[in-house]
Amino acid sequence: MYVELEGEGPTYLRLYRGLRSAITGGGLAPGTRLPSTRELAAELDVSRNTVLRAYEQLLAEGLASATHGGTFVGASAPEAPASAGPSCVVVPLAPAGLRIVEAARSSLLRKLMELERVPYDFIFGIPDPTIFPLPAWRRALAHAADRASNRVLSYGDPRGDDQLRAMIVDHVTRHRGVRCTSDDVVIVGGAQQALDLAVRLLVAPGDAVLLEDPGYPTMHMLLDAAGAEMIAAPVDGDGLDLSGLSSSELSRCRVAYVTPSHQFPSGAVMSRERRDELLVWAADTGATIIEDDYDGDYRHVGPPLPALQGLAPERVLYVGTFSKSLFPSLRLGYAIVPRALREAFAAAKWVSDWSEPTLLQRAVAHLMQKGDFQRHVKRSAAVYRRRRDALVDALDTGIPGVRVRGGDAGMHVVAWLPVATEALPDVVAGARAVGVGVYSIAPFFIRPPPASGIVLGYSSLAEGALREGIARLAPIVAQARRG
Ligand SMILES: Cc1ncc(COP(=O)(O)O)c(C=O)c1O
Repeated sequence: MYVELEGEGPTYLRLYRGLRSAITGGGLAPGTRLPSTRELAAELDVSRNTVLRAYEQLLAEGLASATHGGTFVGASAPEAPASAGPSCVVVPLAPAGLRIVEAARSSLLRKLMELERVPYDFIFGIPDPTIFPLPAWRRALAHAADRASNRVLSYGDPRGDDQLRAMIVDHVTRHRGVRCTSDDVVIVGGAQQALDLAVRLLVAPGDAVLLEDPGYPTMHMLLDAAGAEMIAAPVDGDGLDLSGLSSSELSRCRVAYVTPSHQFPSGAVMSRERRDELLVWAADTGATIIEDDYDGDYRHVGPPLPALQGLAPERVLYVGTFSKSLFPSLRLGYAIVPRALREAFAAAKWVSDWSEPTLLQRAVAHLMQKGDFQRHVKRSAAVYRRRRDALVDALDTGIPGVRVRGGDAGMHVVAWLPVATEALPDVVAGARAVGVGVYSIAPFFIRPPPASGIVLGYSSLAEGALREGIARLAPIVAQARRG
């Protein structure tokens, strides 16, 4: 335990003062077990008697209590100030720091994730943990730990573990039509880090970035933090539509961010024509396209359209993640980086946090080598497809006039409701009051939304619960429709 000896005088008094400050300052929470007198004496190189006297003083003041199990910080110890009061020191932030704080404060996804979950919660983007293959994952972790050589335990390659990079190449070339070798792959801390590194490398304050509208709010947050200008193009059933943007807007952007396989949040799959249009724009302007393939492992209807990257590997920075196919707290994703950006991207990763934990990367590599990953993706895709079918059926039969879109891939759909946009907040609140969590699409828009849509994730609810949720939602929508 770290404790500072405070002030002047005998050592036991200085130790007592140090412990008291730690307790009253909140560094040692009520109920924390203090080290034994023997341990602390050895650690501080003082006599046991010194520690004993310091503890006695704390006991006398009610700042600690003693039981047969040891000495504990008293339950009644004064609590630390709950928040920064007026006497707190103010640390001035740099402009970039201020932008980060401001952007994070207004983060939509953070607010949604912090909402209390309700029984019929159509929260999106969260895989079902009950179908995760825990035994295979345990075996993979044990396999990695058993082979933890000195190399594995030392600092890793900033681009990531070579075994995992090789498995990712195999996966994305086989299933996503990506064209790459291991040299193009950088393992990152989830898609989020890939987006962050890309923005840091490519976007200066004031730079214009081309975006889908509606779009991924966390990317908006990164761009706000970078001080970028967002140029939003609308999305229709064919994905990003550039036709409404002026040529000056288009020529100013040097970076575009898109989710072509399953547009977030509308769910549109970008058509081949729109992909070609975007690539022609990028070739003409010399722009880099960031392709976020966040749920590309899940395709429910027809063969997947290959990733944009496969059509133009030198223009597209492809981002993939294990957050949906395995679990979000794993925090592992990958960037497939154009050759011209290879060195810069690996450098940014290194500067940021050196590398992802090698042991964890080896465990995922093993899961892939054994085929457990692929089996899980196949199995979970079948489960999600059944849930999607149940949800679409419940919406179509339960809510007259609804238009369900975005169900060809991924883990969520958008239901466009036959109610006025002003009525949508009441629908969302009314649903929550009867235990149903649905999420308005409006805050995902930069410009005003054209209609009343709700984003409905179906990955974390069983079929019966999906149907019950929609049965509860239907009368609320009907009421709002009547006005
Ligand atoms: C559009 C989009 N990109 C990326 C991600 C995933 O990010 P990460 O891999 O950091 O968990 C999500 C998560 O929901 C997402 O919706």
